[in-house]
Amino acid sequence: MTTDTARTTNADIVAGQKEFLLPAMLHMYSEPLALAEGKGVRVRDADGKEYLDLFSGILTTSLGHCHPHIIERVTEQMGRLGHVSTLYATEVQVEAARRLAEIAPGKLRRTFFSNSGTEAIETALMMASIHTGRSEIIALRMAYHGRSFMATSVTAHGSWRPLATRVAGIHHTLAPYSYRCPFKQPCDDSCAEAFAQDVEEVIATSTNGQPAAFIAETIMGVGGYVVPPPSYFARVAEIIHGYGGLLIIDEVQAGFGRTGRWFAIEHFGVEPDIMVMAKGIAGGFPVGATITTDEIAASWKGKTISTFGGNPVCMAAMCATLETMVQENVPANAEARGRELQVGLEALQKKYPWIGDVRGMGLMRAMELVEDPQGKKPDTRRTSALLEACRDEGLLLGQGGMWGHCLRIGPSLLVTADEIAEGLEKLGRACERVNG
Ligand SMILES: Cc1ncc(COP(=O)(O)O)c(C=O)c1O
Repeated sequence: MTTDTARTTNADIVAGQKEFLLPAMLHMYSEPLALAEGKGVRVRDADGKEYLDLFSGILTTSLGHCHPHIIERVTEQMGRLGHVSTLYATEVQVEAARRLAEIAPGKLRRTFFSNSGTEAIETALMMASIHTGRSEIIALRMAYHGRSFMATSVTAHGSWRPLATRVAGIHHTLAPYSYRCPFKQPCDDSCAEAFAQDVEEVIATSTNGQPAAFIAETIMGVGGYVVPPPSYFARVAEIIHGYGGLLIIDEVQAGFGRTGRWFAIEHFGVEPDIMVMAKGIAGGFPVGATITTDEIAASWKGKTISTFGGNPVCMAAMCATLETMVQENVPANAEARGRELQVGLEALQKKYPWIGDVRGMGLMRAMELVEDPQGKKPDTRRTSALLEACRDEGLLLGQGGMWGHCLRIGPSLLVTADEIAEGLEKLGRACERVNG
């Protein structure tokens, strides 16, 4: 990283943003942060201040910023063939799809590439509807699946739904939220059945009995890294298949090595019918992927294209990401560093009673902030203050949870033990500042 970054200031960029971009665009801080450059887990703002980035552009720069192998393959591809559209076949798109089929669970082997998680979700929902000939979808309360008309309709956070008419035929079931489990405290795997029963009840009471699909994030990302009880997905798969519907699993945040396995759903021993990926799949390049079985893929009889889907440069970035992940056994690093992070966060929890819960898998870890550990009233105010205090300490983290009361950590999967320790130290100082 060079140090000469003060050509245009933070204030200049933020002023331009406020003048020319959509005001609805969310920025986590009271004053937006303008980032100018990055390398590995370090980024620098436009005024030259350095930050340890443990949020990686919303869990997307999965190998850190400006990884040399991604730069090398992207540059080489750009110099050879930059764009063709899905009207033409390319070697690099076939390579990306073949590699994906090799690591995807079970019979998932047919991919359609698009440009974002949202588009990949749209593709999955349309695919399920085409295959089953049905249109009703069951989704989870507190889910986040993207920003299009359909994706915001399966999303179930009021604050992420614009004030417009919803797409009809979508029904939301209980989120398998262990920390706030309505059935038993502390929640355990015996609650999986009760959460799954709610899916059956929603089908019986709110649909025509013929759902096209059940869709869920394996770990609810925007929801604050909510990890369902171990048996949950196996039971839900039985129920939705029993009604002739498909299981769509959204791995946009949790997939691609982040939880210590290639896909988080592998921890639950379940094979989805359709799986959706994006974010970290191409190390920061815009790739969405929807993968399914031969049989479901064959049902799509109409035409479909994407101008930018499968773009050769983005496919090269995806192949480079996968190559590095395999060569450097990146999922194992995610698991080991994730354990260190969990231990550090639990130590903070012991010190501060307002840290109600610490949870996650691999390098997807969250702290839930509450006003008191018994009542569990969400503490949004302290969470926002903590995020700002982390920024002052030179640490970038994310915010989430239904009430914006969770702190989310999701660094590059190549993060080192020293960088995790440094992050915990900065977070510890920030906690001290907002205590009391
Ligand atoms: C689980 C999940 N699904 C889908 C999306 C939508 O992805 P994108 O922002 O690339 O459209 C997101 C984005 O945060 C997500 O977290």
